[in-house]
Amino acid sequence: MAIIIDDENRIFTLQTQNTTYQMKADTQNVLLHTYYGEKTDHSDKSLLIYRADRGFSGNPYEIGKRDRTYSLDSLPQEYSSFGTGDYRITSLRVQNQDGSQAAELRYAGYRVQKGKYDIPGLPAAYAQNEEAETLIIRLADAYSGLEAELYYGILEEMDIITRAVKITNYGKEDVILNKAASMNLDWEYGDFEWISFYGRHSMEMNFQREKIHHGIQAIGSVRGSSSHQYNPFAIVCEKGSNETMGSCYGFSFVYSGEFLIEAEKDQLDRTRLICGIHPDNFSWKLQNGDMLWLPEVIMTHSSSGTGKLSRNLHKVIREHICRGKWKNSRCPILINNWEATYFKFNGEKLTEIAKQAKQLGIELFALDDGWFGNREDDSSGLGDWFANEKKLGCTLKELAERITAEGMQFGIWLEPEGISEDSDLYRRHPDWAVGIPGRKACLSRCQWILDFSRKDVQDYIIERISKLLDGIPVSYVKWDCNRAICDKFSRLLDSGRQGEFAHRYVLGLYRVLEELTEKFPEILFEGCGGGGGRFDAGMLYYMPQSWGSDTTDAIERLSIQYGASFGYPVSAMGTHVSTSPNHQTGRAVPLSTRGCVAMAGTFGYELDISTLTQEEKAEVKEQISRFKKYYELIQYGEYYRISSPYEGTCTVWEIADPSGREAMVSAVYHHAQANPAPVRVKVQGLKDEAGYQLFLNEDLKEKYPGRRLPYGFGSGEVLSGAALKQFGFVVPEAINGFQAWQIHIKECQPVIETGGRCV
Ligand code: GLA
Repeated sequence: MAIIIDDENRIFTLQTQNTTYQMKADTQNVLLHTYYGEKTDHSDKSLLIYRADRGFSGNPYEIGKRDRTYSLDSLPQEYSSFGTGDYRITSLRVQNQDGSQAAELRYAGYRVQKGKYDIPGLPAAYAQNEEAETLIIRLADAYSGLEAELYYGILEEMDIITRAVKITNYGKEDVILNKAASMNLDWEYGDFEWISFYGRHSMEMNFQREKIHHGIQAIGSVRGSSSHQYNPFAIVCEKGSNETMGSCYGFSFVYSGEFLIEAEKDQLDRTRLICGIHPDNFSWKLQNGDMLWLPEVIMTHSSSGTGKLSRNLHKVIREHICRGKWKNSRCPILINNWEATYFKFNGEKLTEIAKQAKQLGIELFALDDGWFGNREDDSSGLGDWFANEKKLGCTLKELAERITAEGMQFGIWLEPEGISEDSDLYRRHPDWAVGIPGRKACLSRCQWILDFSRKDVQDYIIERISKLLDGIPVSYVKWDCNRAICDKFSRLLDSGRQGEFAHRYVLGLYRVLEELTEKFPEILFEGCGGGGGRFDAGMLYYMPQSWGSDTTDAIERLSIQYGASFGYPVSAMGTHVSTSPNHQTGRAVPLSTRGCVAMAGTFGYELDISTLTQEEKAEVKEQISRFKKYYELIQYGEYYRISSPYEGTCTVWEIADPSGREAMVSAVYHHAQANPAPVRVKVQGLKDEAGYQLFLNEDLKEKYPGRRLPYGFGSGEVLSGAALKQFGFVVPEAINGFQAWQIHIKECQPVIETGGRCV
């Protein structure tokens, strides 16, 4: 039983395999948060809450004369509200019809459901009925009639608890929600740090770990989408914890729009974390009977460091967020023409790329930007989703058929949310572009955004894209969006509802994606937001992978992919091998290193194949067959971060088969040093008593005679799982700048015989 309810004492305990979460409705009907962390029993943890009379922290009227130690300003709560005595950051801020901002949410009942709840119109983790349970707790404001239903989805086996909130106005008067977060989590005690991921276009997911200090710290986006600048994901961890040790909590917002994740350490050293839609561009009017669902947050806790936390998240995203055919099938290895040609191509050139790619074992050709409308550069044509037949020299159908006749699948790039001023669509529907009447809307990449909050715009896009995809043999769609949104305004919303625009936009986008992905279940959709501008669990619900970054430089990708690995599985990360020197950084990196880094993702190519030498072509062929060989292991294995790109000389990650029979260690020297210290890898996830052999992707001895290989790499040398865990092995030294090694570790005998050859 994942949900244990003590009805008499009104205690709700959620149990997962390794964690416990508890709340209690107290004598004042406040829903207290009493515990989240390592698994424990379901006894009343509210006893651990310490109360004292705190000056200037007031007391609710009903209790205030008797007990000055009871204050909403210091009690840990499940869903806090603004204006009635809690002065910390709060999850709900309303405006009542009389202009007041008060809300007092009090416990009003609960119900339990088998299975995992879902949220109409919003992405959310899903599960079979026997895999999950749902607890719903009702909180009500007796004055206004506003109710909040707190939803808890428990995926017991996965150590996952999800949260979402449904707010309904049962009162007669309108209530405006000015802030309505999806979750609030309070820690009664603890010294915490938090990890977040910041960035910019072409350099997403930089890792940052900071102390949670007194005051408020926050990450968020007011850019219309989850953004390159901050990822909607954070980890709160105990001071001193690391990859393998210590308590840590992960919060992944299943939402692709504007978000805010805030942390506050308060006057009494208690910590509060709130995650939800960003309030700056949000206000939502609820009239009598109206309700609003707030998006889901996936939470997990690990008592053994961030490594386990990440693996919990990888699993839940892979198995309970990603959907459709491609969730469990091998995605085709693709070649994308963007960095090969940019806008300069014709049908012949594209067919030639596809033909040559086929010879190397590549399976799909993805036609990127520039094939439609009048689009010779990025200043025009967006919105005109009709092929530019003059440029292609044929119809899109003919091109697709020519390419599929070569034995390649065909894919296409779209940016359906974008609109250029210089486009037929804009000339026909200038009012469809987001902007404020009477003002000149800000351009970005010389374009605007279509008002996806409008149903007529959604319908048009669904129809146009359906027609386009119906007519040609398409196996893959890259769904891009290349600007942030400002000048937020929709002509169809009245002035009192313009604050609903940003969220309505995301709901509109989700509707379009739901319909199109349902209509075309065979197509592999890849999300993209000018790289990783919308790399979030919300998008992964519709499209199981997302282009990671417009930086294809393998060395820059090390830190982008390192950052992403904290919250997202390898199967979600779009990665390509591109040319060297790299187009974004000018850095030259060996092909084998580019291949190794791209294999920590969906894996594909994005370069002009006709410029490769015979030797390089042979290497590409070899990479492809290696990726295919290890596909299951790489995509579905357990991921371990061994060393970080921010330190030392070598970034190392490992993917182990859950059975412990094999693992792949990838090591990339990101910093060349003379006379370097050895890089030691302690391998995780193997079986202690089994014997293993190490295999290097290149035959070092043959290529570089005279080099000394570390122990384990000689022929027939066997190491035990225990030795690999405790002492590890030393990575062969770098021969080139940015050398990469892939080391396959394979069980070679079931049990170690003492005195045998095993170490
Ligand atoms: C974005 C994408 C790129 C490419 C270009 C095309 O920047 O991230 O991969 O598709 O658009 O304009």
